Amino acid sequence: MSQHPSKPVIEVRQVLKTFAGKREVKALEAVDLAIGAHEFVSILGPSGCGKSTLLRIVAGLTPYQGGEVSVNGRAVMGPSPEIGVVFQSSNMLPWLTVRENMALGARLRKLPESVWAPKLEQLMGMLGLKGFEQHHPHQLSGGMRQRAAIGQILALDPQILLMDEPFGALDALTRDRLNVELLRIWQEQRQTVLLVTHSIAEAVFLSDRVLVMSGRPGRVVKEITIDLPRPRRPESIKENPRYGEYIAELSSLMGVFKDEH
Ligand SMILES: Nc1ncnc2c1ncn2[C@@H]1O[C@H](COP(=O)(O)OP(=O)(O)OP(=O)(O)O)[C@@H](O)[C@H]1O
Ligand SMILES: [Mg+2]
Repeated sequence: MSQHPSKPVIEVRQVLKTFAGKREVKALEAVDLAIGAHEFVSILGPSGCGKSTLLRIVAGLTPYQGGEVSVNGRAVMGPSPEIGVVFQSSNMLPWLTVRENMALGARLRKLPESVWAPKLEQLMGMLGLKGFEQHHPHQLSGGMRQRAAIGQILALDPQILLMDEPFGALDALTRDRLNVELLRIWQEQRQTVLLVTHSIAEAVFLSDRVLVMSGRPGRVVKEITIDLPRPRRPESIKENPRYGEYIAELSSLMGVFKDEH
């Protein structure tokens, strides 16, 4: 996993974003980042610093005023099928079953059922949702709902996975378990991942690199390469002295910033 990939899959150069309104908000200022193929990169930063905005810009969902954003060498002009986005809150439709929700994207793309049905079957097993296919989202636990939301995106086989605090609303134990599951899936499928999180431990456990953003207007102010062996397991990784060092370094960096409102 290269630290400075020669051909980035995601490239953001000097991006500016200001939200107009009664009170103009300068969300991002001169943001730079480059993410190589199959890299797992996390973003940490204080609340309100523009992390979700940055993810939405990369996903082609939000326009920006300055700079350049490209994916696979092409300027981002709008949403594209190579990118899957898992949002801060689940985007499942409450009136559809888990299976219908997970099939929705494939159906909208008019993919034949013979293509997506076996994939869905496999994902249900991988994400521990077997037996819950006909349940509705409100009949699931928070962790299961989040797994289903991730399954919805994985069903479309995106090359790039953008995740905005996918486990933010979960208890610590469920979150740890889902982190392990996410790593297992990534180790098998090796998508290029950009994950926004508030958890320093989660960022260190999962990532090849962690980017730290400043308070608003957000900029990437620090990049730390996580040089820990893979495959990673929670028990063995926590015994590695480097793990503690990364946590301490990121904690002191994050301690400098106050959340923005
Ligand atoms: N659609 C919008 N219209 C106006 N202002 C917005 C909009 N979306 C975000 N903002 C503003 O941009 C700033 C950055 O918001 P953003 O949601 O990107 O922060 P964040 O880093 O994801 O925060 P959190 O960690 O709390 O999720 C905030 O001040 C927010 O109020
Ligand atoms: Mg956010």
